[in-house]
Amino acid sequence: MGFREVYQSSKDNSEAFWLDAARAIDWDKFPTKALNDANAPLYEWFTDGMVNTCYNAVDRHVENGRADQTAIIYDSPITGAKDKITYAELKDKVAHLAGALVAKGVTKGDRVIVYMPMVPEALVAMLACARIGAVHSVVFGGFAANELAVRIDDAKPKAILAASCGLEPNRVVEYKPLIDGAIELSTHKPETVIILQREQCTAPLIDGRDYDWYAVQDGVAPADCVMVEGNHPAYILYTSGTTGAPKGVVRPTGGHLVSLNWTMKNIYNVDPGDVFWAASDVGWVVGHSYICYGPLIHGNTTIVFEGKPVGTPDAGTFWRVISEHNVRSFFTAPTAFRAIKREDPKGEYKAKYDLSCLNALYLAGERADPDTIYWAQNLLGVPVVDHWWQTETGFAIAANPLGIEHLPIKVGSPSVAMPGYDVQILDEGGNPMKAGELGAIAIKLPLPPGTLPTLWNADDRFKKSYLTTFPGYYETGDAGMVDEDGYLYIMARTDDVINVAGHRLSTGAMEEVLANHPDVAECAVIGVSDELKGQLPVGFLCLTTGVNRPHDEIVKECVKMMRDQIGPVAAFKLAVVVNRLPKTRSGKILRATMVKIADSQEFKMPATIDDPAILDEIRDALQTLGYAK
Ligand code: COA
Ligand code: AMP
Repeated sequence: MGFREVYQSSKDNSEAFWLDAARAIDWDKFPTKALNDANAPLYEWFTDGMVNTCYNAVDRHVENGRADQTAIIYDSPITGAKDKITYAELKDKVAHLAGALVAKGVTKGDRVIVYMPMVPEALVAMLACARIGAVHSVVFGGFAANELAVRIDDAKPKAILAASCGLEPNRVVEYKPLIDGAIELSTHKPETVIILQREQCTAPLIDGRDYDWYAVQDGVAPADCVMVEGNHPAYILYTSGTTGAPKGVVRPTGGHLVSLNWTMKNIYNVDPGDVFWAASDVGWVVGHSYICYGPLIHGNTTIVFEGKPVGTPDAGTFWRVISEHNVRSFFTAPTAFRAIKREDPKGEYKAKYDLSCLNALYLAGERADPDTIYWAQNLLGVPVVDHWWQTETGFAIAANPLGIEHLPIKVGSPSVAMPGYDVQILDEGGNPMKAGELGAIAIKLPLPPGTLPTLWNADDRFKKSYLTTFPGYYETGDAGMVDEDGYLYIMARTDDVINVAGHRLSTGAMEEVLANHPDVAECAVIGVSDELKGQLPVGFLCLTTGVNRPHDEIVKECVKMMRDQIGPVAAFKLAVVVNRLPKTRSGKILRATMVKIADSQEFKMPATIDDPAILDEIRDALQTLGYAK
């Protein structure tokens, strides 16, 4: 069957399509129905099935002949460490850690925060939660204590699983002070903190609350898999919205298993036993779906890579890992390729390695610019598949399904909608637009299995954020178009979310931080185009009347506040003091116009602008930072 037929069958007979896909999962009780629309517009899938994620990702492979197959390859060019863990060993590690959690009173439905760097124990932690039906929430290591505190207060975890430190190429990031700081800031206090002590730094433990990762497992009985309902939350993953309060995206167990398993062959074209590598971080959705769950559920070997595309030690690291570990499909963010291209434009490092094992490269997380795609295609000589998805969906909304049919690649497009997604381009009034016309990208409800059923403890926020603008649709927050052949083009966000090196960040959250500076009366943060990271945040500060301290001091303080309160991942280094911000007559800051000026693009003077002369001041300010040329 070609892809068009597959897609059509998912549309015409969605029940049969997804129940059929569900047969690849080992259920304790097979669901009687796929879709549950009893509570529409909130939808669920596989509600009455009983299943366990860890059983499907680990135990069943041990029972079905993969016990000695490598499940996880750990490769850390930062420390030089390498390790291989078989499925049998993984089961043992996971069952013991799960046993320790049970001994500490963690049971089905309890939340557990995971704050870990790229070490195999991060996956062990996630799977241990899944084993006992606990709901993990992984927090990216590049976030500051304050962001961790916000997540602790929202998820109310019984326990935290963490490492003593993460390793960046130029520094050791001690996690324990961040955890202690976060618990001090938060209202909710987790009872137990379990720390994996790494040799690069030993964290002091607080008696009665903190436990050593291994000591806490001593003498405890390994835990068995606890079966959960198909709609049981597998995890919560916080992502940026328009305000400082991140959204807790809920991932439902049954749909998660079914959809990820389906994508491994049909999109990523790997068979069980193949090595699959996603060079991302467990703190992001890509890491959840394609470092941890997808490959393991499907019986692949996954790679936990602790390094960067460049500088660890050089721009050939990716090629070494692919060649050394026999990677068949490789997934990363376009920014990683831009970093490699900048350092090694001729691709000379690649010549040192045999990459004949590699069948395809997958890019996502941000717009893949055509230059980068062409460069990657020429260098690697394999299909370069841009695919588009979001934390909310958990797997690709649009892709090129190489495992079903290699559709013609159109550079600049993440190709076509995947099964279960009815993607439409809508105008402001919610009317479908014609091919080639730019509008808001929306997906007709229901979304397919595995996508978010709601936000954690926030049904109303879920409806308001995603389901209200276009009734009957899920609003993606992206704008773009569809061409005559059904290929999608993702052009920009319609909200205040920016994308920095594939990381999704909220300019609204950054403005909340800047507004707390005692000398800042008003501020705006915009995302300007950056050759390497796609976008970079730039802050504009209007000072309180009477403040006459040197501007560079205030800017420095703001940069530090952002690093301390959001984290280094915000990559906030550029800010400038201005007298006024451009606004509409009703007082709305004209951020989109400021972005156009920064990127030296033509723009139409907004009809509602209060005072056009302010734009000249903004241009001058941006020029001092090297923009608006
Ligand atoms: N813990 C602590 N700090 C972290 C971190 C982590 N897990 N991850 C990143 N940071 C820090 C970085 O050290 C950097 O700090 P600095 O300001 O002191 O230099 C800052 O956060 C910004 O990080 P990032 O934007 O990721 O840039 P980078 O300097 O680490 O490297 C490139 C970026 C250029 C190598 C980039 O191409 C890249 O590969 N980024 C990651 C892409 C990615 O995996 N995206 C995930 C979506 S698929
Ligand atoms: P995240 O939830 O962090 O995965 O970020 C999702 C957002 O990243 C999307 O809404 C898009 O704005 C952007 N994005 C992800 N993949 C792509 C892609 N292939 N092309 C364009 N934008 C993308």
